[in-house]
Amino acid sequence: CQMNAADSEVVLSIMQKEGFVYTENIERADVILVNTCSIRDNAEQRIWGRLKEFVRYKKANRALIVGIIGCMAERLKDSIIENHNLVDVVAGPDAYRDLPALVRQTESGGKGINTMLSREETYAEISPVRLDKNGVSAFVSIMRGCNNMCSYCVVPYTRGGERSRDPQTIVREVRELFDAGYREVTLLGQNVNSYKWDCEGGAVDFPALIRMVAETSPLLRVRFATSHPKDMCDRLLETMASMPNICRCIHLPAQSGSTRMLSLMNRRYTREWYLDRIAAIRRYMPDCSITTDLIAGFCTETEQDHEDTLSLMREVGYDGAYMFKYSERPNTKAARHMEDDVPEEVKTARLTQIIELQNSLSERSNRADVGREFEILIEGESKRSSGQLFGRTSQNKVVIIDRGQHSVGDYVRVKITDCTSATLLGESV
Ligand code: 5AD
Ligand code: SF4
Repeated sequence: CQMNAADSEVVLSIMQKEGFVYTENIERADVILVNTCSIRDNAEQRIWGRLKEFVRYKKANRALIVGIIGCMAERLKDSIIENHNLVDVVAGPDAYRDLPALVRQTESGGKGINTMLSREETYAEISPVRLDKNGVSAFVSIMRGCNNMCSYCVVPYTRGGERSRDPQTIVREVRELFDAGYREVTLLGQNVNSYKWDCEGGAVDFPALIRMVAETSPLLRVRFATSHPKDMCDRLLETMASMPNICRCIHLPAQSGSTRMLSLMNRRYTREWYLDRIAAIRRYMPDCSITTDLIAGFCTETEQDHEDTLSLMREVGYDGAYMFKYSERPNTKAARHMEDDVPEEVKTARLTQIIELQNSLSERSNRADVGREFEILIEGESKRSSGQLFGRTSQNKVVIIDRGQHSVGDYVRVKITDCTSATLLGESV
């Protein structure tokens, strides 16, 4: 996830300070750290698969140290080492400052384990070393952990309680990025709407923070993820509407369109509340794109609940969505108190329906852009041809244009001439 991408950059910064050198060539590495995710079982299965591949590197280099960091490290703690004698280091999301010491500890043949969670750690003053090398867009973590306790979700257990990062360090990091040529930052947190920093002159909340960040320069685009519908307030929408460089794009995970399901999920809003928030977004910013996350087949989900999700999708007309089958995670509230009772084939059938509906909604959303003009920020060369570049609209849609005189990091005004279901084609005007 984006959060892990941001964390890897913090880890690299910590390791470099202690004299470790980054390599892109895994065959040459003396230390491999794998940043892991526990959100669904298939994410964990992929990590186990990856670990098996490392056996051959370990055969080639007896001194190679393999570390598991992140959510899976936190969830499984030292049992990872018991189950996989390949692993030497295990570090949870709040233990990254300890990583150089944990790695050194293994040099004398031991194991290095730290899965302590913290109530304060935000890695506030650490300047991440950017791994995403487009040099134009960067992630900036503004808070860690989550207090929401959605019943299906493992994150509050693996990443600990919610804490916000000092706004001064955020603004400083953003200014450094801008000075280094970056033109877009994405502010990251599990629930950015509950960002809060108490200081002498009063508290800084998310609307205040995003304003401070957006004031860095009108040439800096600001995005954010993720918002929780229960906390999506009009003040944020007002702030967005008043600053053109805050992007017209909101990711608002619905999870389900059924109020009964939302209640079982402990989401703390109803379908009606959610739709009211959508209406508010449209009122403040008619041109704002809206994307979501949806889960198919949560405990006790009926055909009617599923229909409610499909009808919510149609009613909102999402521009994009991340769609998942419910995956029971050990020790969550759902795992402890509810039965994972929707059969696998029903989950699959419902997910397929959700994906097909979203494909048609995404295509409709793209079609509606043909003939319109947008300003795009160029991020790189198109994968298909070096004669073409790609950039994004404020709404976060990818547009392909001919290279012409443009280069990466430029803002270009384009007219959309055509589209596929995934991208827009444009020409500069
Ligand atoms: N099963 C399926 N999807 C999940 N998500 C979180 N936990 C689970 C789970 N146990 C999804 C939610 C969340 C996104 C990041 O992952 O939709 O918004
Ligand atoms: Fe998980 Fe809910 Fe927190 Fe998102 S808001 S990380 S789904 S508990």
